[in-house]
Amino acid sequence: METIAKLQAKKNKEKITMLTAYAASLAAVFNKTAVDMLLVGDSLGTVFQGQKDTLAVTLDEMIYHATVVRRGAPDKFIVVDLPFMSYQVNPEKSLSNAGKIMKRTGANAVKLEGASELVLESVRRLTAIGIPVVGHLGFTPQSVNGLSGYRVQGKDRAAARKIQAEAKALEKAGAFMLVLEMLPARLAKEITRALKIPTIGIGAGADCDGQVLVCDDMLGLYPRAPRFVKRYAQLDTVISQAADTYITEVKAQKFPGAEHSF
Ligand code: KIV
Repeated sequence: METIAKLQAKKNKEKITMLTAYAASLAAVFNKTAVDMLLVGDSLGTVFQGQKDTLAVTLDEMIYHATVVRRGAPDKFIVVDLPFMSYQVNPEKSLSNAGKIMKRTGANAVKLEGASELVLESVRRLTAIGIPVVGHLGFTPQSVNGLSGYRVQGKDRAAARKIQAEAKALEKAGAFMLVLEMLPARLAKEITRALKIPTIGIGAGADCDGQVLVCDDMLGLYPRAPRFVKRYAQLDTVISQAADTYITEVKAQKFPGAEHSF
């Protein structure tokens, strides 16, 4: 299994790969690949639960999905998202909620979004008690309403400077890695160069230290995947063809055959 030390040693040497997972079955498939890390992202709210955004996802749901992903992928370094309002109240609540995730799921780290003073204090307190934290800047899905929708962030100079300062602040607070989402490639490159910790990009160009994609997006299972996604498979077609063949064979009494019967 990867460790924080091994992941950080990849910076400037080897790109880091991360994929999301929400189910034991897919996690077991990823467990057999060379992917460095799995993320139980609160993107499960949109791709798994069919909601319009991630805001309704609960801590119990994250714990449930993280537990089944750990069961499917015993050998992978697993990061779990702290869901909306589980770390935005006060540092004590952040600690207690992150602690529940770590105790109940067997995850290796938690991820939270933004860099407000409250978030920075939570990162300091979590890392001080040994809970590793991944930061998340740029487009932060839990702030979709405040950000007026799914938009590239840091496009003007002032916004870019703010994100650069936030990245430095998260590193100083103790985050061991940073997800950069939907940023201009040049800005993500500058942030990556300015930090000692690795950056993981999603819609942030090729110069981050690694990349993350949402599993359903890259497998072709989610119809509303954003432009920055590359589909490495078209599983929706494979699955509907398999279902059609099954239906046809049952109707034609070709399935089950003698070999499937007792
Ligand atoms: O929830 C998620 O899957 C994420 C990725 C988009 C990085 O945060």
